[in-house]
Amino acid sequence: MISIALPKGRLGNKAYKILEECGYTAGELAEESRKLVFENEACGVRYFLVKPSDVAIYVEYGAADIGVVGKDVLLESGADVYELLDLGIGRCRMCVAAREDYVEDTGRATVVATKFPRVARKYFMDTNREIEVIKLYGSIELAPILGMSDVIVDLVETGTTLKENRLKVTEEIFPVSARLIANKAAYKFKESEMREIVRRMKEVTAK
Ligand code: PRP
Repeated sequence: MISIALPKGRLGNKAYKILEECGYTAGELAEESRKLVFENEACGVRYFLVKPSDVAIYVEYGAADIGVVGKDVLLESGADVYELLDLGIGRCRMCVAAREDYVEDTGRATVVATKFPRVARKYFMDTNREIEVIKLYGSIELAPILGMSDVIVDLVETGTTLKENRLKVTEEIFPVSARLIANKAAYKFKESEMREIVRRMKEVTAK
């Protein structure tokens, strides 16, 4: 039996469609329900539905053998897992953004509002700049508008949220897409099953 952690929501639904196409069905999963565990013994899979930001934790601790997680959440978690495959779904970009009239003051620490403090700290450290981080949990774009921060580090997909709030991308940090990840020990014990899952998912996502 392989256990799979899927993020609740749009990305999880897309990932499940791929897995379904690969033959790893668990009928009821597609339907609206409050159930968190779905199993199909015949296919040898058990699905867990978890909060997107928790997928990497379930996989790192081995509660799930594999999982689907955005590269953004994966890097922010710092989880020690294998990254098996880029699924090419949930594409967006991790960016630094600021008010349209923003000019960086290199004489002091830049104040950064973000849901991704680890990603922000690493990026600014790598580019030799000092920052002060304000951790927020959503509507990050408000912070520079209200003058609470100089910039934000956040995901940009269509760019609509920035545009509608008169913000602009000042730097692109990395491209984001969903990844298939695996628990390191589980990968050793169940290598052939996992290789088979990766092979099928590669085939389906390459279409
Ligand atoms: C994400 C992200 C941006 C927005 C980007 O927010 O944090 O705010 O989507 O998408 P766009 O470029 O297509 O406008 P999410 O919808 O997850 O909500 P949040 O503000 O609560 O984080």
